Amino acid sequence: QTPVIAIDGPTASGKGTVAALVAARLGFHLLDSGALYRLAALASVRYGIAPADHEALAALVSDLHITFREGCAQLDGVDVSSEIRAEEVGNRASAIAVHQDVRAALVARQRAFRKEPGLVADGRDMGTVIFPDAVLKVFLTASVEARAARRHKQLIQKGFSASMENLLRDLRDRDERDSNRAVAPLKPAADAKLLDTSSLSIDQAVEEVVGWYRER
Ligand code: CDP
Repeated sequence: QTPVIAIDGPTASGKGTVAALVAARLGFHLLDSGALYRLAALASVRYGIAPADHEALAALVSDLHITFREGCAQLDGVDVSSEIRAEEVGNRASAIAVHQDVRAALVARQRAFRKEPGLVADGRDMGTVIFPDAVLKVFLTASVEARAARRHKQLIQKGFSASMENLLRDLRDRDERDSNRAVAPLKPAADAKLLDTSSLSIDQAVEEVVGWYRER
C-alpha cells in the first residue's frame, strides 16, 4: 500500500505549512483537504446555494470541476488560490463541512490523491475517516493565541485585512463547530501522535514529523 502520513488539527495549527514541507522533504504528493472544502464553499457562493441546503451542496460538490497544479487551485479552469484563503471562505467551508452528504461526496476525490511514492494529507479527518490505514498520524495543536497570531500574519501577508479580536472569535467558533459536529468531528485518531506547535518553529515541527516517519 502506498504510504500516507495524515496530519490533522484545528484551524491555523500549522498543518498546511508543515504538511507541505514534509511532503517536499520526502518527495511525496500533497493533499490539502481543507482546500477542497474551501473550493466547495466558494462555488456555493457563486451558485447561490445556502449553507444549509445539503442536498444541493452535495450535488454541487460531486460535479465540481477542480484541479490542483503546482500549488494553484483552479475552479472551472480559473485560478482561485488566493480567493479561497479569505477568512469568510474558511468560515463558510466549516459551515458546509457539517453535512454528511457533502463529506461523502468528497471521499473518493481525496483518496485519489494517494499515489506512489506516498502522500501527506492534511485536514480534520485524514487519520480518522479518509486514510484510517495511514502509516503515521499526527495531530497538531497550538494554543488559540498562537494560532490567531499565525493566521493574522498569514492573512496580512496575503493582502487581506484582519483584526486579532475578530480572528480569536472566529477561531473559537470554528473550533467549537468542527469539534462538536456529528459527522467526522475534529479529534485525534486513537493512534495519532500529538504535537503541540505553540512554541516550536516550523522547521522543528517538520523535523519531528519526518523523524517519526523514518523511525516507524
Ligand atoms: O486553514 P484552516 O485550518 O483554517 O482551514 P482548512 O483546513 O482550509 O479547512 C476549512 C474548513 O473545512 C475547516 O474549518 C473544516 O470545517 C473543514 N474541513 C473539514 O471538515 N475536513 C477536512 N478534512 C478539512 C477541512
